[in-house]
Amino acid sequence: MKHCSKITVLMDNRAQPGLLAEHGLSLWIEADGMKLLLDAGQSGAFARNAESMGIRLADADAIILSHGHYDHTGGLPDVLPAMKAPIIYLHPAALQPRFSVREGMAKPNGMPMAASAALEDLPVPGCHWVRQPVRLSPCIGLTGPIPRETGFEDTGGPFFLDAQGTQPDMIDDDMALWIEADNGLVVCTGCCHAGLVNTLRWVQEQRPGLPFLSVIGGLHLAAASEGRMRETIAALRSMDIRQLIPLHCTGDAAVAQLQEALGERMFATAMGGSVFEY
Ligand SMILES: [Fe+2]
Ligand SMILES: [Fe+2]
Repeated sequence: MKHCSKITVLMDNRAQPGLLAEHGLSLWIEADGMKLLLDAGQSGAFARNAESMGIRLADADAIILSHGHYDHTGGLPDVLPAMKAPIIYLHPAALQPRFSVREGMAKPNGMPMAASAALEDLPVPGCHWVRQPVRLSPCIGLTGPIPRETGFEDTGGPFFLDAQGTQPDMIDDDMALWIEADNGLVVCTGCCHAGLVNTLRWVQEQRPGLPFLSVIGGLHLAAASEGRMRETIAALRSMDIRQLIPLHCTGDAAVAQLQEALGERMFATAMGGSVFEY
């Protein structure tokens, strides 16, 4: 018998009344006797939402960064100082400067300086560099970097490592977290820049033979081509997915298409304040 798992959406692009919303993501995960923070939104607003919901961020056993984009890391200065001995899991590439470049205009979209400074201030054992799959507990794992196997998935945007837009940013730091619940797996994604199908297949490789009870998080399909959506939907239909909860950067059109394809298995109304138990 495994522990009950509970996931609370601390920050999303939308929020229930009384809570704050911004373009960003943060999930509070209680599973297998652990309390985990996956991503820290764009600002300290996620910490205020946590307070409103009676969640003590200082109790987190660890923080996990799904990747280094500003909308997942900007709130770090609002949580790290409150933790007695902060432990944070991230890929080294999460710290690199990066940009989104649209019509020749470059916008930094990496970790804000205040967040990287807060990380630098951590005691030496605080940072755990995730270069391969990692187990946080017998029932919780991080995917580490996700192999890009499908031909139809890209990172979902005009992402570059330089402001001139000459070096594509493959977002090598992108990873997901999985929980083995009683009857299957729960997968939590940040932006899913590695692609939803790549991500789920990689999780399946690590924990084979289990259905996906739930997949929750940003899916970054706003700019997905018709072909990508078609192939994604076909791949999802071939997997045993019981619930898909799109958040954050999934994109309204993609949500509508997934809703049509997956029917009642789609839970499209999640937002800041939503709570799910498995
Ligand atoms: Fe994001
Ligand atoms: Fe992102």
